[in-house]
Amino acid sequence: MKIAIISGSHRPSGQSGRIADFLASRVESLKTGAQTYVLKLTHDMLPLWDESMWGQEGQAKEAYAPIAKELQSCDAAIVIAPEYNGTAPAALKNFFHYASGSDLGHKAGLLVGVSGSINGAYPIAEMRSHSSKNCKICYMPDHLVVRHAAEVLKDDVKDDFKEDDAYMRERIDYTLNVFFEYAEALNKVRESEVVKNTPQKYAFGQ
Ligand SMILES: Cc1cc2nc3c(=O)[nH]c(=O)nc-3n(C[C@H](O)[C@H](O)[C@H](O)COP(=O)(O)O)c2cc1C
Repeated sequence: MKIAIISGSHRPSGQSGRIADFLASRVESLKTGAQTYVLKLTHDMLPLWDESMWGQEGQAKEAYAPIAKELQSCDAAIVIAPEYNGTAPAALKNFFHYASGSDLGHKAGLLVGVSGSINGAYPIAEMRSHSSKNCKICYMPDHLVVRHAAEVLKDDVKDDFKEDDAYMRERIDYTLNVFFEYAEALNKVRESEVVKNTPQKYAFGQ
């Protein structure tokens, strides 16, 4: 099994990137033989979507090609959505202009909200409602929200955050184990004739 982990943070030293690495190590520990592909959408990773994706002039298609190749080799994807001004960051919204059904279609998705304080639910709601129509990722019902992100899932947790940290670690392991089951189950859906032969006219959710 190969799991993509996409961090939506704009900040090279942001918490979402660190949490992406933490989740990658948990995936590899919990699932024997599992591989991960970690994509951090820091400022320079992907240009704003342009019409080169439709065969016209631009730089987007070339920039996205190696990412598409990696995503296509994955069975499922974890989408990490930090909360910026009560919404998901522009880099993550931009990524979903690129991602297609060939990359993520009918693959299990796990959403992870990240907040510097006690928020983190808005980007989850936004991703659930506005990121799956065309790429057809299948978000599982449970999601994770990492609050006080700078204080947890690290080695030197302060006393005030030890309880939150322990809860979060246990919750992550449980949720990842359920996620692996969805990832495996949806292989069957992707291999089905009805999905393989989906008419082009239905490809964009009409
Ligand atoms: C532009 C910007 C806006 C932010 N707005 C919010 C917010 O509305 N709610 C919140 O809980 N945290 C907010 N934060 C803090 C982030 O949630 C915090 O940095 C967290 O670690 C996730 O972002 P990161 O992965 O870039 O570090 C904001 C951070 C930035 C950079």
